[in-house]
Amino acid sequence: MAEPHGILIKGGKVVNEDVSVISDVYIENGKIADVGLNLHVPDGVRVIDASGKLVIPGGIDPHTHMELAFMGTRSVDDFHIGTQVKQEMEVIAKERGVNSFKMFMAYKGLYMLQDSELYAAFSQCKAIGAIAQVHAENGDLIAEGAKKMLSMGITGPEGHELCRPEEVEAEATQRAITIASAVNCPLYVVHVMSKSAAKVVGDARRNGHVVFGEPIAAGLGTDGTHYWHKDWAHAASFVMGPPLRPDPSTPGYLMDLLANDDLSVTGTDNCTFSVCQKALGKDDFTKIPNGVNGVEDRMSVIWEKGVHSGKMDENRFVAVTSSNAAKIFNFYPQKGRIAKNSDADVVIWDPKLTRKISAKTHHQAVDYNIFEGMECHGVAVITISRGKVVYEDGQLKTTPGSGRFIHREPFSEYVYKRIKQRDEVGQPTAVIRKPYDGKVISVSH
Ligand code: URP
Ligand code: ZN
Ligand code: ZN
Repeated sequence: MAEPHGILIKGGKVVNEDVSVISDVYIENGKIADVGLNLHVPDGVRVIDASGKLVIPGGIDPHTHMELAFMGTRSVDDFHIGTQVKQEMEVIAKERGVNSFKMFMAYKGLYMLQDSELYAAFSQCKAIGAIAQVHAENGDLIAEGAKKMLSMGITGPEGHELCRPEEVEAEATQRAITIASAVNCPLYVVHVMSKSAAKVVGDARRNGHVVFGEPIAAGLGTDGTHYWHKDWAHAASFVMGPPLRPDPSTPGYLMDLLANDDLSVTGTDNCTFSVCQKALGKDDFTKIPNGVNGVEDRMSVIWEKGVHSGKMDENRFVAVTSSNAAKIFNFYPQKGRIAKNSDADVVIWDPKLTRKISAKTHHQAVDYNIFEGMECHGVAVITISRGKVVYEDGQLKTTPGSGRFIHREPFSEYVYKRIKQRDEVGQPTAVIRKPYDGKVISVSH
């Protein structure tokens, strides 16, 4: 429910992905009713003083797994699951407002698709105007690598990274881009975790491919050296696929590419398993449920490593945490922008405040936090969701069940304009020739 009498946010700096301007924002009935100075508003509205603070669009995390049944257990933060059969894809896209499908190149024997299957799935995505998403890792090489590590007596979490080094991710990323390009289908590479894979995505964009890369909070905020930690539970809590990389320059490199638009958008892949669930793999790293936290801390981690570090400005921050996702998945400017008639999803952000991330204070169900102890500049002071204050003074004021599914139309213009034009002008044509009328050898069968 929206606040009954509206909310006037006064004196803040309104930051969109293209421009920042000191302005007031008036919210009524769940929508942004007006943006400007000296707004006429009814008596009795709540006034929030945002002077010295930023007023930014609510973050959009394009990649989470809530309540995911996975690797013998279920992720502990709530909600969601998906499927992928050709006819169902069409129904889901046309009637149910879903315009992206994730395909796996990893998890051999469970989810892994062969190249010909990826080709078919990408073709169907294109036919229905959806965005093909890939988890890009070579599942065959992972299976072989895992066998090798176990045979060498490497059973701990370090084996998880050792069996799937960077090339395994980079090769699959390149292959997915090649297959998508053969189909002229837009591609979104989820959880880009390594320097090599990020470089493949950046190079492909420079070569004109319609591809978007999604680094995640984990990969931007921490690294894979933790897999070698002496405490098994600590090391296991970082296990996810593709793994965090032990090269400590990886997070900074991924942030550089995010800042310069080689990479486009940040997710979290939030898929949390508590330590007792991770312990399913205490004697064999291949049985550790894959997944890490991130959904609560994404904005802080990206502000700290991206904006506070000086790599990106506040507008690029809004682009990579909110508006680019809204554009790719086709619900911009309903979401992802502070503007008249947009949904009133607004964060009042104080760039001068700091906070320390800890499992002791976080609101998630999981019993550890991979960013434990990280000091972050930039703190959300107030969060407004569809006109209702849902977070203030460190307290969540959410009502279970108040989240809403957003119906997304297919053929997002942001993604499909170039694809459609290429289809129109880029079709190969046969060469018109005089028929060959010379001798043809005879072949005996
Ligand atoms: O380890 C991960 N990434 N877990 C979530 C499932 C997936 O592959 O995205
Ligand atoms: Zn994945
Ligand atoms: Zn995922």
